[in-house]
Amino acid sequence: MQAKTWHLGDARQSLVLASFAGRLPEVIYWGPALPGKDDLQLLAAASLTDVTGGMVDRNAGISLSPEASQTFTGHAGLSIRDTDGNILVPAFLFENETATENGLRLEYSDSHHGLTIVFDLSLTAEASLFKLQTRLESSNVILVDWLAAPVVPVPAHTGEMIEFSGRWCAEFLTRRLQFSPGARVRDNRTGRTDHAHFPGLIVCNGATTNTQGEAYSFHYGWSGGHKMVAEELADGRRHIQFGHASSSKEKGKSFQSAALYATYSAEGLNGAAIQFQRYARDRMVTGARSPRPVHYNCWEAVYFDHKISELKSIASHAAELGAERFVLDDGWFGRRDDDTSSLGDWFVDDRKYPDGLTPLIDHVKSLGMEFGIWFEPEMINEDSDLYRAHSDWILGRKDQTRGRQQLVLDMSREDVRSYLYDRIADILKNNDIGYIKWDHNRVLPIVAAAQTIGVYELLDRLRANFPDVEIESCASGGARVDFGILERTQRVWLSDSNDALERQRIQHDAALFLPGSVTGSHVGPRRCHTSGRVLDMKLRAWTAAQRHMGFEMDPRELDDAETATLCDATNWWKANRHWTMQADIHRLDSSDPAVIAEQQMARDGSRFVVFAVLARTSDQILPHPVRLTGLDPDAMYSVSLANRNEAPRLSRGNPLLKEKDIEVSGRYLVTHGLILPWRFPETIWVLEGQRL
Ligand code: GLA
Repeated sequence: MQAKTWHLGDARQSLVLASFAGRLPEVIYWGPALPGKDDLQLLAAASLTDVTGGMVDRNAGISLSPEASQTFTGHAGLSIRDTDGNILVPAFLFENETATENGLRLEYSDSHHGLTIVFDLSLTAEASLFKLQTRLESSNVILVDWLAAPVVPVPAHTGEMIEFSGRWCAEFLTRRLQFSPGARVRDNRTGRTDHAHFPGLIVCNGATTNTQGEAYSFHYGWSGGHKMVAEELADGRRHIQFGHASSSKEKGKSFQSAALYATYSAEGLNGAAIQFQRYARDRMVTGARSPRPVHYNCWEAVYFDHKISELKSIASHAAELGAERFVLDDGWFGRRDDDTSSLGDWFVDDRKYPDGLTPLIDHVKSLGMEFGIWFEPEMINEDSDLYRAHSDWILGRKDQTRGRQQLVLDMSREDVRSYLYDRIADILKNNDIGYIKWDHNRVLPIVAAAQTIGVYELLDRLRANFPDVEIESCASGGARVDFGILERTQRVWLSDSNDALERQRIQHDAALFLPGSVTGSHVGPRRCHTSGRVLDMKLRAWTAAQRHMGFEMDPRELDDAETATLCDATNWWKANRHWTMQADIHRLDSSDPAVIAEQQMARDGSRFVVFAVLARTSDQILPHPVRLTGLDPDAMYSVSLANRNEAPRLSRGNPLLKEKDIEVSGRYLVTHGLILPWRFPETIWVLEGQRL
């Protein structure tokens, strides 16, 4: 049987599609790059499966939108109704194909229902990452309950999935699950990406580690809450679906999924992670200052208690530590003395700032720092002038449960968006501001895609008119971290936890998708405000130096030793950021579960830095060698233990790296690894390497 076939691929991976008898296309191969010799017609024919007793006479394909009309008995890719509520069951047929910049667009229609479904499939040039998107056009008004981004099967030998959960101060928790008959469904009805629902999935198997084995990695680039279906059909085949959260029901004639990003790796989880990191850093995020400036954020120093003299003194100390950007957090507007009032009143508080923000901004600028400011545009307090004037602007019922005492503005309304645009634009026009921290501190009372689309519109308008203002996405820490928001922002506040040990874990897992250049990491107060824990400044400073570095304590609390340690780490960061902020982050496999380690590798392979944290005491007395990754086995490398002077007195022996730098082959580093000195828990080793 003649089929239509398509191949999308590069040197790393191939994706082959086939459309039989004009029906919706199916992914018939996805994996390592094919050698270019295969006859795609033959692959199409070879993909057809047998039938036996108890089955229908033709197995429905796992198409880009599996159809109930083809007797697909799993979770269909599309679920729609007419305006009377009748379920529509379309059967699409081939209409058109077009080549696009890095891929193709395939159009299928159902003339009976007046529907067209369009699949945009591309393989990005900057990184080996598929970008897959589905659009649905209808000649009549319909209701869409589910529209999956292009659906892809995953092979039977990848029987495990790594999914993401989390909470406030513990984002990006990973969990490994086995596939089993039926569907694993994650439906995030918070209306935002949320701490507990990062929209990602990695399909792998028991042999997959950070550095080895196969992985199929997915991320749905949407900030409004997603639904994921990872289904094993009764016949054993498996497929992955991502779309908007089920309750984002939409009515109209034109609908679109967000982009589903996906990649295959034969080099373990890192092979996939690096594609996501590169795409985010090199393609998606635009307008980021280079080099990335060291942040200072005043939130945990002063909270709502803004006094100009104090803030000036803090800014002076922050600049001495090396800060290059000062961010004035919550508390500068309306009558915002605590979190019960003023959201919506984006006017400078003239009690706290009688001459406006200019005196503080001038002081900050005189110290050589850029000035940034906090907004939470989508939110409103009942105790605000805005609410007193426009109580009808809120999203959801008036008697809804509040979140942090606040309500949400209905961002689908043009008048709401234009009020917010005017207020933010006014502050930006009248003050020398280079940065916005854009917050979102509660779940939504109802889930609606229109809310997310409205926020994107507002951000796009501000970006277009203030192209030099960078934006950070924050939502009680990392509750809005995704590629939808990163298309419009330059940084994410990964977590409200400044506890360096917690941060190590969160950063490590977030690196499955995020590059260092967009990932904020701050040195917090000595006694961490969210964990109550006191950790050594060495660990705190180096942990921040692993990502986009910043400080968030009152710098006047630092003693001389802490100041010296922080300055050293900050100077190191500044001297290296030209390459570390462009580096690939490889998570290292550690045979000691107490160790969290990563290797940041320069894009040209000429140098690397390894951060190896002992998060708790090890079960065994001798440190396991730290094995590196991604090195040229035949090249020689010089390796230095950058902080060898931090070995404790209980380290009584003389492992070589404690004494001097060593020169060894890539093969030795990757296979045997490096023997490090014994140390206390909650400490970090920093190793620097150069290719010779
Ligand atoms: C959220 C953010 C914090 C801070 C506060 C201000 O919790 O995550 O970093 O900006 O809001 O209210």
